[in-house]
Amino acid sequence: MIDLTTTLGPLELRTPLIGAAGTVGSVVDFSGVADLSMYGAAVAKSVSEDPWPGRPAPRLAPSGAGMLNSIGIQNPGIAAWVEEFGAHLEGMGAPVWGSAVGKNPAEFARVAARLEQAGVQAIEVNLSCPNLEGHGMFALDATATRDVVWKVRQAVDIPIGAKLSPNSEEISVIGRAAVEAGADWLVLTNTVWGAGIDVRTRRPLLTGLIGGYSGPPLKPIALRCVLETRQALPETPIVGCGGVTGGEDVIEFLLAGASAVCVGTAHFDHPRAASRIIREVESFMAEQGTTSIRDYVGRVEMW
Ligand SMILES: Cc1cc2nc3c(=O)[nH]c(=O)nc-3n(C[C@H](O)[C@H](O)[C@H](O)COP(=O)(O)O)c2cc1C
Repeated sequence: MIDLTTTLGPLELRTPLIGAAGTVGSVVDFSGVADLSMYGAAVAKSVSEDPWPGRPAPRLAPSGAGMLNSIGIQNPGIAAWVEEFGAHLEGMGAPVWGSAVGKNPAEFARVAARLEQAGVQAIEVNLSCPNLEGHGMFALDATATRDVVWKVRQAVDIPIGAKLSPNSEEISVIGRAAVEAGADWLVLTNTVWGAGIDVRTRRPLLTGLIGGYSGPPLKPIALRCVLETRQALPETPIVGCGGVTGGEDVIEFLLAGASAVCVGTAHFDHPRAASRIIREVESFMAEQGTTSIRDYVGRVEMW
């Protein structure tokens, strides 16, 4: 009997797969197309206090083996979000987590509090969105990261994860700031900055010019973030996130030190990708004679 359950800080997850924010809609709408029982949790698209219109199209573009996006965190604002989805969060087949964004720490905290009231079981703090009242993004700066996570920690009782950026110079320094401020785990990572140009029209592939690059080319970068952070903060629970498309990608992130792993861009190839990935994880474990997924966590063998 194969045991896929895993522990992420204070939470027990049924499987190590997490539906990545922004790739499974509100989760409520995604439940109509995918089997949510494959996930240990699914994270709804990030939501802010006021509605954000997002960027104009084109804002999604395939590029190499990955995908560029500059959605601009389009969302209806927390009040409309709660009204539309709040009553449906129970019984989705997987625990629904929220994802909070804001222009400043106080806004993050107010959004997180509303998400908690609405019934989400945990909250990702999306520090890798633009810092709209300053420059760059929160996750590039340890003090800004600490301020946001601290405010959210004061505002909610449910577990929180801090979602960081592969663009930060020293991700473990940012990760330490998030954990010291009260994050229960780190999500490593969000998309990496990227861009593309259509050589015929000479226009950028995205109206936002620079966007987030995701999918398989992100995997080595995200794995590097997990390995570095695990070395610096061995006790901190980690969610690996970046370029997972198959069962062996999941095992790779677990070996690097993640306790759970997001599936994101793979949903654009197939919304039911998680069902296949779980089958592949199980057959890999059967082949290896491993019964518990936990036996892989952090078990990379150093040269
Ligand atoms: C279209 C799109 C929208 C996204 N929106 C969000 C979002 O709202 N909040 C967030 O934290 N991450 C967002 N992400 C980032 C993903 O959750 C994930 O961190 C990233 O895509 C890397 O994983 P992947 O390579 O498996 O896609 C988005 C990604 C994509 C492709």
